[in-house]
Amino acid sequence: MSDSSSFDLIVIGAGPGGYVCAFRAAQLGLKVALVDKRKSLGGTCLNIGCIPSKALLASSEHFAFARHHAAEHGIKIDGVSIDVAAMLRKKQGVVDKMTGGISMLAKARKITVFTGEAKFTSATTIAVGDQSLTGKNIVIATGSAPVELPFLPFDGETIVSSDHAISFTAVPPKLIVVGGGAIGLELGSVWARLGSDVTIVEFLPQIAGASDADIVRNFTRILKAQGLKIEVNAKVTGFKDGILTAERDGKVLEFPADKVLVAVGRRPYADGLDLAKAGVELTEKKRIKVDAQLKTTAANVYAVGDVIDGPMLAHKAEEDGVAVAEWIAGKAGHINWDLMPAVIYTDPEVATVGLGEDAAKKAGIKVNIGKFNFAANARAHANDAADGFVKIIADATTDKILGAQILGRNAGELISEIVTHMEYGGSAEDLARTVHAHPTMSEAVKEAGLAVNKSALHAL
Ligand code: NAI
Repeated sequence: MSDSSSFDLIVIGAGPGGYVCAFRAAQLGLKVALVDKRKSLGGTCLNIGCIPSKALLASSEHFAFARHHAAEHGIKIDGVSIDVAAMLRKKQGVVDKMTGGISMLAKARKITVFTGEAKFTSATTIAVGDQSLTGKNIVIATGSAPVELPFLPFDGETIVSSDHAISFTAVPPKLIVVGGGAIGLELGSVWARLGSDVTIVEFLPQIAGASDADIVRNFTRILKAQGLKIEVNAKVTGFKDGILTAERDGKVLEFPADKVLVAVGRRPYADGLDLAKAGVELTEKKRIKVDAQLKTTAANVYAVGDVIDGPMLAHKAEEDGVAVAEWIAGKAGHINWDLMPAVIYTDPEVATVGLGEDAAKKAGIKVNIGKFNFAANARAHANDAADGFVKIIADATTDKILGAQILGRNAGELISEIVTHMEYGGSAEDLARTVHAHPTMSEAVKEAGLAVNKSALHAL
């Protein structure tokens, strides 16, 4: 076996789970190969997921501001219009810069990158095209793919997944989004801001997954005011002659559509890997079966990210990847899956972590709730972002923070200090006694901490 084809670690998949695992392993002195079928590293997240969608969210937010809010600020802009091609170029520029950065870092860390589809030939060998690679350890980080509904198959033109909805070349006059989760709400917002008539059709009684009812109620109200139509309790049944059909309480609903974005979740993706050749088994839910140290059923083969259990989030995959690299290198890796923030990047954003108020009540856990509205925060008013609130859920006996939910501009940034307090076992009082710069929206987080013990300063 030649030296150029044998490695301490082979990572299959160069998304946030895989490339971060490869980077950490290289830092720890391992000889690492990183394999991906795409030439451009970064996986779904950087190429067609998290990052391009954030670029479009930013561009469409600028457009919505110019169109609806600039005048209130005394800024006169005449004849605002959209150049979708330029917007897509801007998005691609962001993607190219970031994926190029990953390649540059991989090179600097002396990671050997292979482009092609990997297949296991045994538990220690894989084939990439006509090359055979041997790894003392192998990490599977092949991610996920959009779920397809059998009665609404993707055609890439009219019935599409997020892969396509980040690249529409024109604003669809009528866009129906099936699924009111993170993808549906983010991309629905993008196209609605750009002028599309968007309807979200959700199967469950509420959008935004498992967020607390007060968050969902206010979030729904705000999105509707922005022009999104939201239909809940609606079971989609099919699409014919430009009409999407759904059912609610036995009644047929009809939605004319130029495009239908199906965003009903993602499925673990391990297609074509020949897992059986390595002895890697799947769970009943078709995720790769792993133990607490993310080891599969094959010795020295690990799996991380969307392809195993847990939330399908890029930062969760990164945590998995770092821990596995450290375990392989003989260090004490650590993952805290219970402290995984989740963010929907609309405007306002919804950010949640840990235990929600509704879940606490359901489980009979005694909690104190501290809630603070951005309406009482001066910076939020100056920023046109006074709609929303911060909520802290703390243990009623110990005051330890058990969770938080925020509806507000940049909630995804604001929640991270709460996550930090939680990581160190902090109490609501710890959070409330931490100095926050004035004037910032983060003061609402401090006030919510105070509110847990009924001592908010800027609220009754
Ligand atoms: P999701 O699981 O977040 O939401 C899917 C929604 O579709 C749910 O509300 C579900 O009830 C609904 N649904 C399912 N079947 C349906 C049907 N037949 N008709 C109508 N509604 C139906 O999935 P989503 O938004 O596709 O995202 C996929 C994954 O990617 C998720 O795990 C998500 O967390 C992750 N993601 C995270 C983002 C973020 O953190 N901001 C952004 C994009 C994706």
